[in-house]
Amino acid sequence: MNTELEAALAALRRGEAIGLPTETVYGLAADASRPDAVRRIFTLKGRPADHPLIVHLGSAAQMDDWAVDIPESARVLAKAFWPGPLTLILRKQPQVPDEVTGGQSTVGLRCPDHPLALQLLQAFGGGLAAPSANRFGRISPTSAAHVRAEFGESVPVVLDGGDCAVGIESTIVDLSGDLPRILRPGRIGRAQLEALVGFVAEGASGDSPRASGTLEAHYAPRTPLLMLPRAALESEALQQQVLGKRVEVLCLDTLPEGLPGLALPRRASDYEHGLYAALRELDARGVNLLLAERPPESEDWLAVHDRLRRSAAGAGQDAT
Ligand code: TXA
Ligand code: MG
Repeated sequence: MNTELEAALAALRRGEAIGLPTETVYGLAADASRPDAVRRIFTLKGRPADHPLIVHLGSAAQMDDWAVDIPESARVLAKAFWPGPLTLILRKQPQVPDEVTGGQSTVGLRCPDHPLALQLLQAFGGGLAAPSANRFGRISPTSAAHVRAEFGESVPVVLDGGDCAVGIESTIVDLSGDLPRILRPGRIGRAQLEALVGFVAEGASGDSPRASGTLEAHYAPRTPLLMLPRAALESEALQQQVLGKRVEVLCLDTLPEGLPGLALPRRASDYEHGLYAALRELDARGVNLLLAERPPESEDWLAVHDRLRRSAAGAGQDAT
């Protein structure tokens, strides 16, 4: 094992939180079996204590250590998609700390598809509770540098696993109720899930477990953000400029002539890969308004719509 991994392992065993690379976004990870370690995550993030965290596992064989009454559908999905960007909500084992589940009767489990994370998890042996490594409500980190920018010296150990391949958070599927239900859209879409387990509902129901990724205002830049179709975006930008406001745009494929900003590829998975880094970069330019071009309406863009909509809802508020 290399020295970075050893340092990370030692920090986890001391009950500290570390920056953990995964294929989706970076996590802020601590020993999921230790309430004191999990509480540190909440303090560092500034996150309300009743928001549940995902427990990361080294393999699907560990599912039974954390969950009970595991339905066949969970085994099928874990076999097909783990390691990978899929979180399963299951009924929890009694010994899972309330700090991890927000006091709920369910637990979120996922096996991340990243070589460093898997090596660390296998050496650690237990589960690692890890939310995204950003301050509460803010943009998720997709590089080690983003994690350092969020937490600085308060999180001294950040494992550098490069840029996250997926770039947006895992799909969350609740398997604790009557029907499988997508609580948060991600790279693994509804059709892929339905091909294996039949009908899958979309969106939280009244009695669904709470998920902070399902709060309206989330993933937000400090700069106000609006999502508009391209033509409306161009005229809004020009109007703002006439008023003396500074504007940056986030567009598909190309930038409209004369407008500053960034363009991301017109392919959902490539767009997802670049989204959070682009939002961070545009936010750092310190302008008055960000304008994001509305992506296509097709199924494969669902997760992007979800993240942009929430970014727009939370933008411009100086929350932590
Ligand atoms: O891709 C990911 O899922 C990343 C990486 C680090 O694995 N993690 C992540 O964690 O996005 P976080 O905490 O930012 O979002 C996890 C979501 C939250 O919306 C949380 O409420 C939900 O998972 N969650 C966790 N346990 C749950 C439970 N028992 N019931 C319902 N939702 C749960
Ligand atoms: Mg998060």
